[in-house]
Amino acid sequence: MEAPPSGLRSALRREADKAQWVDWVFTRIADRYDLGNDIMSLGWHTRWKQRLVGIASPRPGERVLDLATGTGDVALAIAPLVAPGGEVVGVDPNQAMLALAEQKRPTSVTNVTWVEAEGGALPFEDASFDLVTVSYAGRGFEDWDAVLAEIHRVLVPGGRFVNLDFARPPARWWDRTYRGWMIGSGAVLGTVLHGHPKTYVYIPLSMKAYAGQRWLDARMRDAGFETRLVETTACLMAYNIGIKPRG
Ligand SMILES: C[S@@+](CC[C@H](N)C(=O)[O-])C[C@H]1O[C@@H](n2cnc3c(N)ncnc32)[C@H](O)[C@@H]1O
Repeated sequence: MEAPPSGLRSALRREADKAQWVDWVFTRIADRYDLGNDIMSLGWHTRWKQRLVGIASPRPGERVLDLATGTGDVALAIAPLVAPGGEVVGVDPNQAMLALAEQKRPTSVTNVTWVEAEGGALPFEDASFDLVTVSYAGRGFEDWDAVLAEIHRVLVPGGRFVNLDFARPPARWWDRTYRGWMIGSGAVLGTVLHGHPKTYVYIPLSMKAYAGQRWLDARMRDAGFETRLVETTACLMAYNIGIKPRG
């Protein structure tokens, strides 16, 4: 397997290098991404994504953007809920992940399209979506403020944004234990599934570099959203919810 770019720890502090790492990771793991998720989360990632869909409450006729869609789980779960008349656009900069999303699309689901783009430069008109979702991707964003500005721009007034990601537990011992599990299980899985122990080391290190759900809540308020924060599963997961005000 091709070696990873060097110096992840410092790369996570430098925006351009972080994007290079993110691309390396997701291109290498794309074909076994879903299996890796199932094993590392002991199958729970599906439940957390279902809860995201429940919180987002997509309705028939709505236009939905699933940003950083990866292999499309959330986009494909939402698509039937916005039919008839609605559609979902799954956006991701990584072609390999989008190709897998399309392979997973049941032929009966015809209201999903995949667009190769990056969250800080969305190729969509102002006020063109009712709902934007993001799951397990925000830690990899080079510039959250730019992404939030774009999400706010493409949402209609009254539109919703829901972000699901690993939380930063306030208790330090729990934060460390949690990341310790991700480092240990990630090294084993990286070797077994992808032939390189560093494949998943990006996850715990990016969790450590991520300032967390409360920080994101404040960034969202600064970007113009009305916000709500749901921390769940012993503060392992967090849902950041934002509404673009109508006024
Ligand atoms: C861990 S995967 C999550 C995929 C999917 N949302 C899920 O929950 O399974 C992270 C995804 O974020 C994408 N990504 C990374 N940086 C991005 C950015 N700046 N804008 C949009 N997507 C990005 C990656 O290519 C990758 O597919």
